[in-house]
Amino acid sequence: MANLLVTGGAGFIGANFVRYWRAHHPDDAIVVLDALTYAGNRANLSGVEDILFVHDDIRSTALVASTIDDHDIDTIVHFAAESHVDRSIDGPDAFLETNVNGTHSLLKAAKTAWLDRGGGRPHRFHHISTDEVYGSLGPDEPPFLETSTYAPNSPYSASKAASDHLVRAYNRTYGLATTTTNCSNNYGPYQFPEKLVPLFIINCLSGRKLPIYGDGMNVRDWLHVEDHCRAIETVLMRGEIGETYNVGGSEELTNMAVVDAICDAMEEAFSVDPALEARFPDAPPVGGARFCALKSYVTDRPGHDRRYAIDAGKIRSALGYKPRQTFRAGLADTIRWYLDNEDWWRSVMDGSYRDWLDRNYAGRMLGQL
Ligand code: NAD
Ligand code: DAU
Repeated sequence: MANLLVTGGAGFIGANFVRYWRAHHPDDAIVVLDALTYAGNRANLSGVEDILFVHDDIRSTALVASTIDDHDIDTIVHFAAESHVDRSIDGPDAFLETNVNGTHSLLKAAKTAWLDRGGGRPHRFHHISTDEVYGSLGPDEPPFLETSTYAPNSPYSASKAASDHLVRAYNRTYGLATTTTNCSNNYGPYQFPEKLVPLFIINCLSGRKLPIYGDGMNVRDWLHVEDHCRAIETVLMRGEIGETYNVGGSEELTNMAVVDAICDAMEEAFSVDPALEARFPDAPPVGGARFCALKSYVTDRPGHDRRYAIDAGKIRSALGYKPRQTFRAGLADTIRWYLDNEDWWRSVMDGSYRDWLDRNYAGRMLGQL
């Protein structure tokens, strides 16, 4: 049995992880710590039984240390972050505050509770990070290894890189029992509709343009969020202290291929369920390549990394983990989830989110593909 503290557990991956953990480890105690920023939503955890929710900031070092003491926490799974690259370009400060200072505050709290006051009792600090810390690959370069040089290019990835280094330093310097996973692009239920996949699904349903940055040939590796949760579980169970593990889906795709896959899957969903026409009257009219017709090139993201690719050989050979979902099947399930959970995405798209979205895309539209 374990007592988990999950930071950022009301966000996309954190909430999927809490759901996964409750289903697979019913006897464990789960405390969620989340500041409920624009990306955090208590509703993401609705129906999950027996969790304690603490509405606070990871930067509250004393509160986190006493939460660890009060609930006899032995495992921290750290998701809390500012996670959207475009927002980091618009305003980097929050990224440094949460991703760098917040992670450091959490490490200090863990050290205080587990090592200084707790006399070194068994514990684990697992840090969730990203493949973006390694920078951008050329078309023929080999995928990222755990030993690849860090070369972050956005304020977001720079802040995540700094947090990875702090986690490493707390392991090497103070002996905190840390592990880190660096994962590729996730998709699945409860993803905030600012990221490519949910944004484009909702834009299709609303008949809005699909804004493709630059030439649409940037490459990402895609992993279903449940496969990410299993990878984290694997590392928590069998990972070696002080190590980092790359996690990927072996699904390297250009953005254009992802958008085409979304449009095709949407066509398929509407053709097998004609009731969707009445439910989504703003979707483009029947006929032709109705969803693909929404594709539109827009000005590129500044500093846009060209390609990410993951070599996941270490987690496969050392810990026996590999992903189960294909992108095609996982995307169809994800679209079905957004079709079935219209209330969820309508409710998260509140005024403040729409204001940011309008600013981000203002002046970017260049025209139809
Ligand atoms: P998200 O933006 O959906 O959720 C972030 C959560 O953190 C929200 O619930 C938010 O309220 C909370 N939070 C933010 N600042 C906080 C603070 N100061 N104190 C407490 N809580 C705070 O993010 P996500 O996409 O679920 O990403 C989770 C983690 O996984 C992040 O660390 C991210 O860098 C990493 N990651 C994400 C992806 C991806 O594709 N989404 C891929 C690899 C790694
Ligand atoms: O690689 C892991 C990272 O994946 C995570 O660390 C980040 O938290 C997560 O946000 C994600 O970052 P990306 O920048 O890759 O994801 P995003 O969904 O924002 O964009 C995916 C690709 O699609 C990227 O090349 C930019 C492009 N894009 C994105 C949006 C939102 C568009 O062309 N148009 C868009 O409107």
